[in-house]
Amino acid sequence: MQTASFSEQLSPIEWGPLLNSSFSSVLAPFASRKIAILVDENTHDHCLEFLITGFEALAEAEVIMLPAGEENKVLEVCFQVWETLTEAGFSRHDLLINLGGGMVTDLGGFVASVYKRGLAFINVPTSLLGMVDAAVGGKTGIDFAGYKNQVGTFAVAQVTYIDTGFLHTLPSQEWTNGFAELLKHALISDLELWQDLSKIQDLQNELHSAFIQQGVQIKAEIVAQDPTENGLRKILNFGHTIGHALESYYLNSATPLAHGHAVAIGILLESKLSVEHSSLTQAEFLSIETRIKSTYALQIPDDTEGLWALMQQDKKNDNGEVRICLLPQIGSCLFDQKLTFEDFEKVILGYCS
Ligand SMILES: NC(=O)c1ccc[n+]([C@@H]2O[C@H](COP(=O)([O-])OP(=O)(O)OC[C@H]3O[C@@H](n4cnc5c(N)ncnc54)[C@H](O)[C@@H]3O)[C@@H](O)[C@H]2O)c1
Ligand SMILES: [Zn+2]
Repeated sequence: MQTASFSEQLSPIEWGPLLNSSFSSVLAPFASRKIAILVDENTHDHCLEFLITGFEALAEAEVIMLPAGEENKVLEVCFQVWETLTEAGFSRHDLLINLGGGMVTDLGGFVASVYKRGLAFINVPTSLLGMVDAAVGGKTGIDFAGYKNQVGTFAVAQVTYIDTGFLHTLPSQEWTNGFAELLKHALISDLELWQDLSKIQDLQNELHSAFIQQGVQIKAEIVAQDPTENGLRKILNFGHTIGHALESYYLNSATPLAHGHAVAIGILLESKLSVEHSSLTQAEFLSIETRIKSTYALQIPDDTEGLWALMQQDKKNDNGEVRICLLPQIGSCLFDQKLTFEDFEKVILGYCS
């Protein structure tokens, strides 16, 4: 088990099988305390038993099950978790373990960070997206009033354990979703990783743990330099300004877009903007377009004004101006680049169906 501890302000990340990790010793001080494990329906069925049977300290843990799906990353569901914690008599010295994908770690981290002004929590991500992105870096949150991650906190998990063994039960579309964030990490900072990821055809068989670990490392290193997103960390939002708008646009529709899928489309469109407004070459763009189109179906509405209204809610904006990230080349990224409605409309209308 390798340990990478990045900054005092950040959660240490442990990589490798949970059974060989520090998990038991981190649980030990909570022996006389209460422990809750937050799961959704799927991680309840596929991941919980391994945890409860593998770790004596969890035999009596309170299991809190959420309905699965992004539509449940909302305040009403937080109320239920706070109610359960309150009824079970949790104090702020007890522990919450978030066992799930990004929905569980985002909501669980948020719930814990404000429960009695801060309950300790541990993240055990079980989805690819959770491992390479959501469970790492200290951002928690829920969707509110139709906007993604509108309410949230920066809160540090005691430890984040990344055990790719959990991925064995992950459905294939969730591999595809998580892959988008890994592609993003490569595009913003690692040309060689991008070249490796470009060649993959069968994700479940060809996405080696080493690639996942590199993705985690990229995220952790960027976050370590700028934990609360005052500058550099913004590059992790590449693909997300447009991606989040698409995700919000379809959130309550008959054809919702999963986060990773929306981000993949956002990556394509923001790469196109990078050719027009930065120095990304046409050849680099074509390699991005080929990768994205071979893995993700494009779902882009022609409602440019509706999307623009959603983009104006983006947390990265300044003075009401929409800011995005652009790639000057594969492997580096610029943040805080101003985007006008006219430039946005042009790229959307070039792709919408
Ligand atoms: N906090 C951050 O920095 C950050 C970064 C990126 C994304 N996110 C958030 O993460 C969320 C998306 O994460 P996600 O894609 O993991 O969503 P998710 O948690 O909804 O998981 C996707 C699906 O996979 C299932 N699943 C998870 N692990 C499984 C396993 N091992 N076996 C079988 N099924 C399993 C879940 O039950 C769910 O149905 C979004 O809400 C997004 O906003 C947060
Ligand atoms: Zn994301």
